[in-house]
Amino acid sequence: MATLELDGIVRRFGDTTAVADVSLATERNEFLVLLGPSGCGKTTLLRMIAGLLPPSEGRILVDGRDVTALPPRERDLAMVFQNYALYPHLTVERNLGFGLSVRKTGKQEIRRRVDEVAELLDLGHLLRRRPKELSGGQRQRVALGRAMVREPMAFLMDEPLSNLDAKLRSSTRTRLISLHRRLDTTFVYVTHDQVDAMTMATKVAVLHQGRVEQVGTPVEIYDEPASSFVAGFMGAPPMNLLPAELGTGPDHRIVLRASGIEVELPYRAAAEPGVREVLLGVRPEHLVPVPDDHVGPVLRGRVDIVENLGNEEIAQVEIGDLRVSVRGARPIHLAPGELTALTMRPEHIHLFARQSGLRLTWEPEPAPALAS
Ligand SMILES: Nc1ncnc2c1ncn2[C@@H]1O[C@H](COP(=O)(O)OP(=O)(O)OP(=O)(O)O)[C@@H](O)[C@H]1O
Ligand SMILES: [Mg+2]
Repeated sequence: MATLELDGIVRRFGDTTAVADVSLATERNEFLVLLGPSGCGKTTLLRMIAGLLPPSEGRILVDGRDVTALPPRERDLAMVFQNYALYPHLTVERNLGFGLSVRKTGKQEIRRRVDEVAELLDLGHLLRRRPKELSGGQRQRVALGRAMVREPMAFLMDEPLSNLDAKLRSSTRTRLISLHRRLDTTFVYVTHDQVDAMTMATKVAVLHQGRVEQVGTPVEIYDEPASSFVAGFMGAPPMNLLPAELGTGPDHRIVLRASGIEVELPYRAAAEPGVREVLLGVRPEHLVPVPDDHVGPVLRGRVDIVENLGNEEIAQVEIGDLRVSVRGARPIHLAPGELTALTMRPEHIHLFARQSGLRLTWEPEPAPALAS
């Protein structure tokens, strides 16, 4: 598929609005990930793209052609669902070729395509087996392969990796990335897993309550989240979001204020006028433990928990009533119960208007002595 365009898509179920107003366009052969929490409308949107559910409002265009009223079989899209149903009485080989034989494709052509897909997905040695003789991950690959033999214009996938263990998830991701490169086909991939989005997407659309919160490359979404919702959704652990205030007048100093703390940062924000109440966002990997006599802005707190992830450690630090996550290479040199000082660089501070949640553009103006 060259392009997919969603234009003002709305879907209601009685009083529930599952998809509120979604407009999105893909470039050629995009790997579009629809990312969002449970209930945000991902599956509903995918089903509308597939033609399994009519939108209440809006249009769906494929290569500029309006397909909103077309039935699924005329859209040339292949779906892979979370709960893939394979035919239990057929071998892997016949499961893979089933869709083609229904379409009266010639025997030799079926053979050629099944072999090709089996090689790509490493299923060659399993062709004679039946689904019950396969592991979950192998079944998942058969389901994927069954969609691929059709050589569709686009793949629509709804959480296709959700039943796999961490290692298989990771290797199947790698497989999907190389598949996308080789096939020159559009992928629309639904997930609530931000790692899926970061690793595979060429474009991510973050959905929240049936609306698109932000569209961008994974790097844009991670580095410049458009709202506190996106900031709090991307990253594991997600960005720390701390209540703060901006000084009034021309002097927009940033003051972190919560019960138990008041920390004035030596940064002035050239922020939008009129906004005083903000959320200060800083990613766990950008909070750095420093010696107590550190010159510069410090947050002081007590270490609560330290989790060891093998290569990294994540510490939870209590600062007054606030709690922040700090992430660093192991050993992070923080111990539970210990007092610590943390610092951050001005370029790693994100500001969001507290009320609307929207990102504020701001230019850090560090105090001269601290400029580095
Ligand atoms: N057939 C239906 N009738 C009524 N409400 C529905 C129907 N299908 C979905 N909904 C509602 O629409 C909203 C979006 O559902 P959807 O299945 O699209 O969410 P999702 O993002 O895929 O969530 P999950 O990650 O849990 O799969 C939910 O509030 C859901 O309860
Ligand atoms: Mg769903």
